[in-house]
Parts: sequence; C-alpha cells; structure tokens
Amino acid sequence: MTPPVTQQATASEVLARCRALVRPGLELAVRQLHPWHAEITAFSLGWDWPGGRAVPGGQGKGIRQALAVLGAEAVGAKAQSAVRGAVAAELIHTFSLLHDDIMDGDETRRQRATAWKAYGTGPAVLAGDALFALAVQTLADAPGPHCVPAVRLLSSTLNDLVRGQADDLLFESRPWTGPDAVRPHEYRLMAEYKTGSLLGCAAGLGAVLGGAGRTAADALTSAGRHLGVAFQVMDDVLGIWGDPEVTGKPVHGDLRRQKKTYPVLTALAAGDRAALELGALLRTGEPLDEGAAARAAGLVEEAGGRSAAVAEAHRHLESARACLESVALETEAVGELLALLPYFVERTV
Ligand code: IPE
Ligand code: MG
Ligand code: MG
Repeated sequence: MTPPVTQQATASEVLARCRALVRPGLELAVRQLHPWHAEITAFSLGWDWPGGRAVPGGQGKGIRQALAVLGAEAVGAKAQSAVRGAVAAELIHTFSLLHDDIMDGDETRRQRATAWKAYGTGPAVLAGDALFALAVQTLADAPGPHCVPAVRLLSSTLNDLVRGQADDLLFESRPWTGPDAVRPHEYRLMAEYKTGSLLGCAAGLGAVLGGAGRTAADALTSAGRHLGVAFQVMDDVLGIWGDPEVTGKPVHGDLRRQKKTYPVLTALAAGDRAALELGALLRTGEPLDEGAAARAAGLVEEAGGRSAAVAEAHRHLESARACLESVALETEAVGELLALLPYFVERTV
C-alpha cells in the first residue's frame, strides 16, 4: 500500500501558524507596559491599539517567534512551552529596531513612519528600553526549571547584539578601500552578532524551554545564527535592489549613507573596472544623492556584489541545514524549519 502523502507546509504557512500561536502571549506581555510604551510598541508592530494612532503598512514577518516555536517542537516539546521564548525574542527584536532606526536615521519601516518619527526620539528610546526590560522579565518569570538557562541565553545574546551594532556603526567611518577597509570576515562576524545572535537565541530558547539537552539546544542555536547571517546578507541586498513599496524601507538608504554592506564590500574586492569606478564614487565619503546611489547600485551588480551576496546567503543556509542534521530532532519540526530556508533568499520584504 502506498503511504499517505503528507503535504509539506510552505514557509508562509509555517510563519502564519507560529504567529497565531504566539500572538496572545505577545499581546499579554505588551499590556504590561506603561500605556504610552504599549501604544508605541503596537504602532511599531502594526497593530491596531485602543486609543492608538492609525497604523498603515505591514506587520513583522515573525521569523524569530517561528524559530522559537519550531525549536521547542524539534526537541519533542509542545509549542506552548516556547511561547515565552518567542515573546522575548519578538520584544528584543522590536526594541532593537526602535533603537536601530534612530541610529540609522531611517524615517520609514514597514511602509509607515518609524517610531522616533511618529512619537519623537526620547519616547522611542524609552519604549525600546521598556521592551528590553519586559523581555528579560518574561523569561525570568517562566515557571519550571528552565528559566535560568533561558535568561542566561538571552543575556549573552544581548551582549552579542549590541557588539554587532557597535561594529556596524564603527564600520561607517572606516575607508572603503586600502589597508583599513572592512574585510568580508569582519562583516560576517558583525552580521552574526547583530542579527544572527537573536535568531540563534530564538531557536535556542525554544529548545531550552522545551527541556532540551545541551547538544540539541546548541545545534538549534547555531542553525539560527547561520540563518541570521543569511537574513542580514539578503537584508543588504533588499536595501539596494528591493522595491521600497514592498520592503517599506527608504530606497538606497544604506548606499546613500555609505553603510558597509556585503554586496558593496564584495563588489569593491572584485578589483575590475566597475569596482574601480564604484570605489571612486564612494571614496568621497559624502552621502550620495539619489542619482549617484542608483549608479553605485548598478556598479555593485556589475562587479558581482549582488550574486556574491546571494551565494554567501546560500552558504549559510547550507550550514544551518548541516547544524540541524547533526543531532537527532523531531522530523516534522525539522521539515518545517527546512521549509523556511528558501524564504531567507527569496523574500522580498
Ligand atoms: C538591524 O540592522 C539589526 C538590529 C537592529 C540589531 P539593520 O540596520 O541592517 O537593519 P534594517 O535594514 O534597519 O532593518
Ligand atoms: Mg537599520
Ligand atoms: Mg542598523
């Protein structure tokens, strides 16, 4: 007899299932905030909130909460055991974006004003701080024996995340070429800290709260960190070639501000005619106007920066897959985790 064919869920189905599972816990947590911070948070998350302002645009994708849920399921635990981990990861993500948009001077995200533009810099900083505190509290209050390792994982993640942000900011004042230029391995480390840390933490928290042993939790954490690097490299690609109507972020924001992104760094390293022209354009150190940014984007592509970035993202997806295959995990959850992989390189938002 032929075994029944089980249809593998698509990435968007997996993300939607996990968002629905986590949403009540996330709302419960947000309601604990000062009403002002709750409103700013709801605005950032794209939620309608009683008394809050209208929120055009989209909501987050929910990748981190999905990794937490799947992390727990992968170690044979119920999704529910991961909810606090998923909530903490989303709160930290939101906090990091509130502060990041101020650091980056970005005025739009998810097709609407960033929190600092809508509410002011002081309120956005404070709302971020409140979310940080709430994330720690969410894990510290977790019942059962897994609260201490969960808080420990979150703390080390926060250290990594701010370290990555520090390097990202410091890279801005480094030269594009010459001995002090940012090397690809420095970028990779920065991306692993800045973005990989929280994706790894989310998957690891799911495992830890689900009662996993060290080996499984470490494998899921490492898989998440690789996914985070792939995510960041593709975020850089979308920052240059993404449709601002879809990404909801400013067009050529990174290029205009001369951010050291992976496609640009690898394009410059190509050393061909396009790379030399690109170097001359960027070396002025001045913010680029829209025309110059569009020219730079063309040169990055010509010098192979776009394809190098996509290849780098694929390498990290393969490393994530290898981490997941290195330990014994629940097949169905691993199937859902693997179903998410193409999304990391195919996403448009
Ligand atoms: C954001 O990095 C990472 C953190 C907030 C830690 P980016 O600045 O590269 O991301 P976007 O493009 O604003 O989302
Ligand atoms: Mg930013
Ligand atoms: Mg940034």
